[in-house]
Amino acid sequence: MKLSERILTLLSENPDGYTSGNEIAERLAVSRNAVWKAVEKLRSDGYEIDAITNKGYRIHHEPDRLSAGAVMKLLPQTETPFQVAVVESIPSTNDALRLRAEDGAPEGTILIAESQTSGRGRLNRSFYSPKNSGVYLSALLRPTIPAQEALSITTAAAVAASEAIESCCGVDTKIKWVNDIFANGKKIAGILTEAAINLENGRLDYAVLGIGINISDPENGWPAELTGIAGGALGGYPEDRRGLRSLVAGTFLNLFWHYYRNLGGKSFLSAYRARSLVLGREIIVDDGVSRRPATALAIDEEFRLIVRFDGESRETALSTGEVSVRIV
Ligand code: BTN
Repeated sequence: MKLSERILTLLSENPDGYTSGNEIAERLAVSRNAVWKAVEKLRSDGYEIDAITNKGYRIHHEPDRLSAGAVMKLLPQTETPFQVAVVESIPSTNDALRLRAEDGAPEGTILIAESQTSGRGRLNRSFYSPKNSGVYLSALLRPTIPAQEALSITTAAAVAASEAIESCCGVDTKIKWVNDIFANGKKIAGILTEAAINLENGRLDYAVLGIGINISDPENGWPAELTGIAGGALGGYPEDRRGLRSLVAGTFLNLFWHYYRNLGGKSFLSAYRARSLVLGREIIVDDGVSRRPATALAIDEEFRLIVRFDGESRETALSTGEVSVRIV
């Protein structure tokens, strides 16, 4: 974690009082000059930090920024050496992390952005990622599972996201097979898992799990094409939500890691089924070539959606494709 982020974490432990430069320097094992420089950097980033001679520093008004320190605090104590970085703006956290994966970055490398300029979703769609309203996060995984089991990563992430959003934002959520989270009839989060397969052993070299969570509506509203389709977990743009995005990010990662450490145990499968938006519903299955009406019957042990196409008596197991729900 950067010195400036460590200072922020330390100052936020004492929000109402001053923390002396000496104490900060001692606790973080750096010079007072380094503390002063880091505070100046924070100020230039928009943090208002009061300084009084002989008293020290205090955060005057903390902008609602994502904080790597706050996320780190929520991560589980495991053998994984988590590294969390928060960036202001980036084309796509998934693209950036894939490059780092190719360079050998370790499992547990987490990249979170305040905004993305070319956020990507499944099926070559874009993912709208404006500042101040969402969490755009990618996690580098190096799982030892066969490539055909990669769907379990997305499924575990969907359950973890659904649970994290519910507990942090107090809203009921549903999962639309396979990777979308819904609340109040609108899509509030999407997951994009991208993997590199080792052709010699059929296993994954690495996977980049990307998730975009809309916490609130964007400051300037949704673009026309998303109006009525996408929404924020909180609904609207509430003023007082300090620290909520870091809390959601950290809670999500904590829950996800719990499931991920024992992916084969599939402990999240029953929660995935229970939260399904599609089971028992009339749906449209779009395979990119045709759109066919069907009934969603079940989710099997391989996380495939079992459907019966209209006019057929046999059941079909789907492992990819787009599903839209038809309200009947
Ligand atoms: C979808 O809705 O189809 C999936 C959306 C995934 C968006 C996330 S945001 C963080 C990461 N970076 C990206 O470019 N995409 C994912």
